[in-house]
Amino acid sequence: MTGDHHVEVHWHEHAVSREEREEFFGHRGCVIWFTGLSASGKSTIANLVDHKLHSTGVRSFVLDGDNVRHGHGLNAAPAGLKQRHGEDFGKRFGLGFSAQDREENIRRIGAVARLFCDAGLIAVTAFISPYRADRAGARALIPAPDFIEVFVDAPLEVCEARDPKGLYKKARAGVIKGFTGIDDPYERPENPELVLDAGTKSAEALADEVIEYLRAQGKINPDFEPSS
Ligand code: ADX
Repeated sequence: MTGDHHVEVHWHEHAVSREEREEFFGHRGCVIWFTGLSASGKSTIANLVDHKLHSTGVRSFVLDGDNVRHGHGLNAAPAGLKQRHGEDFGKRFGLGFSAQDREENIRRIGAVARLFCDAGLIAVTAFISPYRADRAGARALIPAPDFIEVFVDAPLEVCEARDPKGLYKKARAGVIKGFTGIDDPYERPENPELVLDAGTKSAEALADEVIEYLRAQGKINPDFEPSS
């Protein structure tokens, strides 16, 4: 059977509403969407935010580019998936870093984050998500005020000097092609809910800025005091 035949699916209303879940949890569901260059600090800040939220009983979870693309995970690479049903299967479902593959990476993550949000949870996503159109797609799926775009703004020179995985070096040497910031664009957000100055401030201070925003927006209890 080919993949393009007509498929009938119908949406089912949930027996437990989002509001009932949120009331039970004591906080709202939302998506904190970090975007920024590789090595800008997205994952570090996301994990600090997650830790601060979790430590006081807020249900949060980090979805992170390196983990989601790992092994046989949700957005595994073609090489990882070809072991299952061969080369063609790997190419159909595996994701790399072409513009289309990044688009699909972000589309799937947007859909998963939406599910988290509907479940009353706080999804914290840490993907470069370099293209404006793809971030707009995620935002369209997760309507205001649930989508909180956080631009982790660190200059390319700073990210390149950090280079924790040695990837900028490989990209400069031409070993990796189409690397974000080097020979593939990073489109800066035009209207993010938050901009974090990740070139000069510590990850800890920036995580606190995010928590402060969540508090101000009524996503979490105004009395929320994270244990650090
Ligand atoms: S995204 O562009 O599709 O949003 P994602 O956040 O999932 O990217 O993955 C980025 C991570 O993949 C980087 O931190 C880096 O470790 C690795 N990576 C490998 N190749 C590339 C590439 N060509 N461009 C950017 N990141 C890459």
